[in-house]
Amino acid sequence: MAVALIVAAGRGERLGSDRPKALVTLGGRPMLEWSVEALRSVPAIERIVVALPAGALGDAPEGTVAVAGGAVRSASVREALRACPEGDPVVVHDAARPLAPARLFERALAQLERSGADAAIAAAPVSDTIKEVDPSDGRTVTRTLDRARLWAVQTPQVFRRDALERALIGAGDDVLTAATDDAWLVEQAGGRVEVVESSPANIKITTPTDLTLAELLLAEARV
Ligand code: CTP
Ligand code: MG
Repeated sequence: MAVALIVAAGRGERLGSDRPKALVTLGGRPMLEWSVEALRSVPAIERIVVALPAGALGDAPEGTVAVAGGAVRSASVREALRACPEGDPVVVHDAARPLAPARLFERALAQLERSGADAAIAAAPVSDTIKEVDPSDGRTVTRTLDRARLWAVQTPQVFRRDALERALIGAGDDVLTAATDDAWLVEQAGGRVEVVESSPANIKITTPTDLTLAELLLAEARV
């Protein structure tokens, strides 16, 4: 059976609220609850572990297992994985993406099974043109990337347990700090990662503007 790890241990500095970002109200309840509700409705998932700031363990939703997160995101994933010794595959999801639908978790799990890959990760095709600039002056364009090959990566990310364990448990703190997503750690270890096409509406709440946008998207979904 599958297990799900939700990382919710960040402080939300860019959002600037009075509490951890995962506990900020969205659509009338703590942001974290939206992800828990979606995951609860996925039959393949038998357990949900939530990494929270050490002072907020009492705020874990009912029926989930709470664990204190680490100093950086991937360290929080590692703590949650350690708190959940069994279960394969492992779904990793950011509490900061409260709009991920249950169907997306199911599609990612199904693609992992079908493909035999080490990881299947939600991502949206890039719609902006992406250019590289010279780091020495920060503005001279050096290259325009081929947009057709670019994907903006999201969560959920679904892993074969052994691949995630190999990537995370053995990684030093410097590598964990450099990782903006766990799939990169699996790629570094030689694993095969596939994208699962997702909607750009599965936004990450980073700034107050994102929170406003998420409220609008939720209101629209309820009509
Ligand atoms: N996260 C975590 N442990 C950390 C850092 C981040 O569990 N030490 C989680 C966040 O709770 C969030 C996800 O990783 O669900 C993505 O991180 P981000 O959007 O950067 O959230 P914060 O770190 O909370 O925000 P900020 O960087 O603005 O402080
Ligand atoms: Mg952060």
